[in-house]
Amino acid sequence: MASLGINIDHIATVRQARHTVEPDPVPLALLAELGGADGITIHLREDRRHIQDRDLTLLRQTVRTRLNLEMAATPEMVEIALREQPDMVTLVPERREEVTTEGGLDVMRQCKNLSSMIETLQSNNIPVSLFVDPEQGQLDACHRCGAQWVELHTGCYAMADWKNQSTALAQLTEATDRARSMGLRVNAGHGLTYQNVEPIAAIDGMEELNIGHTIIARALAVGLQSAVREMKHLIQNPRRNSLFGSLNS
Ligand code: PXP
Repeated sequence: MASLGINIDHIATVRQARHTVEPDPVPLALLAELGGADGITIHLREDRRHIQDRDLTLLRQTVRTRLNLEMAATPEMVEIALREQPDMVTLVPERREEVTTEGGLDVMRQCKNLSSMIETLQSNNIPVSLFVDPEQGQLDACHRCGAQWVELHTGCYAMADWKNQSTALAQLTEATDRARSMGLRVNAGHGLTYQNVEPIAAIDGMEELNIGHTIIARALAVGLQSAVREMKHLIQNPRRNSLFGSLNS
């Protein structure tokens, strides 16, 4: 059964819209945990547009589940991770102009640089996950680089219309099998919603789904604890054939 990591960046986005102190992602992470989150994910961006260094420091002290730090593969970020000791680092590509993380890492092209950072982090007891598109070449490169985990990018699946959704789902299922056959452990995320999450949660071998925007949006209506509880229920009791397309095929 997949577990649920809650990405709380969007709480910090609302705070930073006014450069004030509320809403504070630190106490709200506790509410997410009380709602059933198995982990808290934050992305400390180079431009600090949402999560701040202080959030990371305080969350490291208060999160009682697992703290997953998303970050770019840069020396500055590796230094911060070594100091703060998150339970996992997920390396993601980062571009200043993007609204959110757009594609997966190009591990095939950056293998040498990534390998040394992965080695540094993992030898300091911080498991590393690489955020990649569900492509064979990228997964093979993740294995070569020595990462212990991958996070499969579910963006193509989430954006697909009903005619293409089942193909995108099959790609994610195959990628999960391939990664696991090489000994990699598998998470997934990006663009998952209450409407599309169930088939992804039902993939055999899927360990954790990292979900942010849809839960923070739902929290405005029902509160964060309930929004997390609703999502947790869906991923613990997923219907395999809940694709829009399956109604029509
Ligand atoms: N996983 C990764 C690597 C991400 O960059 C993000 C977005 O910050 C997520 C998961 C969560 O995506 P969403 O907010 O669309 O649920």
